[in-house]
Amino acid sequence: MSVKSNVLTILEENKGVSVSGEEIAIMLGVSRTAVWKAVKSLLLDGHDIVGATNKGYVLRKNSNVLSEEGIKRLLETDSDVFVYDTLVSTNDTAKIKAIEGAKNGTVIVAKEQTGGKGRRGRSFFSPNDSGIYMSVILTPNIAPEDCTLITTASALVTANVIEQLTKKPALIKWVNDVYVDGKKCVGILTEGVFDLDGGNNHKIIVGIGINLTTQNFPVDFACRAGNIGDVSKNVLVAKIVNELLKISRSLKDLKYLEEYRKKCFLLGKEVVVSGKEQFVAVARDVDEKGRLVVELTDGSVKILNNEEVSAKLNEHA
Ligand code: BTN
Repeated sequence: MSVKSNVLTILEENKGVSVSGEEIAIMLGVSRTAVWKAVKSLLLDGHDIVGATNKGYVLRKNSNVLSEEGIKRLLETDSDVFVYDTLVSTNDTAKIKAIEGAKNGTVIVAKEQTGGKGRRGRSFFSPNDSGIYMSVILTPNIAPEDCTLITTASALVTANVIEQLTKKPALIKWVNDVYVDGKKCVGILTEGVFDLDGGNNHKIIVGIGINLTTQNFPVDFACRAGNIGDVSKNVLVAKIVNELLKISRSLKDLKYLEEYRKKCFLLGKEVVVSGKEQFVAVARDVDEKGRLVVELTDGSVKILNNEEVSAKLNEHA
């Protein structure tokens, strides 16, 4: 690890508290000049560090720059974390790393994506410093046909963490969009890297995009897109990873589905289903595989896997 990275780790671990240049230098076995150079470079990266003669350096409590060090120290596991200034798509980078053998829980985060991908071949607008664009590599040991459970679990985890940090209710539009204040703030794209021998050793990439601000969005888009506001980026990423790893270990006990259903704002509502055919129905339930159960006007029941569903009266969607 570089001196810069080690200095940031120490400052992150002491966030809001002053640490003298001399102490840091001793801890790292480097000169005070090397520490000073590292701090200068961290300042250029945007970290809010104040230094006073004889008082040392303080990383201000509200310093909010994404960093591997800032995320890592909050993780409950020894996951590998990669933070990039810009990527085409964190999911694409995660797929490459998964094929190269990345371990369970590896996290890829970008401050900007130039080709962010959404579901159904759509794009996901990911301007610089406006959101969290992250992908987590998971090896949950479940059958490929149960992978929708990862999708529902990811939506629940993300909604819960957002609620915790913003103190605002976060609801889920089946299957994995998260809404705050009636607008979509989060999109999730789950992709698989499958094992050719047909076993359960495949890897799942959970790609999560969260709008923190829509200030840099084109006006027409900004009206429709929601944002969760200013929260600590490193805390947001770390909490999602921690919870995702926990839930992915207990997908089979399905307890979380009960919690998921409670957050699903389409349940009990009239919805428009668009897929191969378009029809109106009432969303009745989410089954044990994470599929949406809808009742048609003639009383028959359909189970939806991957269709697009929106509220008929356009209340939320
Ligand atoms: C959707 O709403 O259709 C899903 C959007 C998923 C966006 C995230 S951002 C991080 C990850 N990388 C991508 O290219 N896409 C996902």
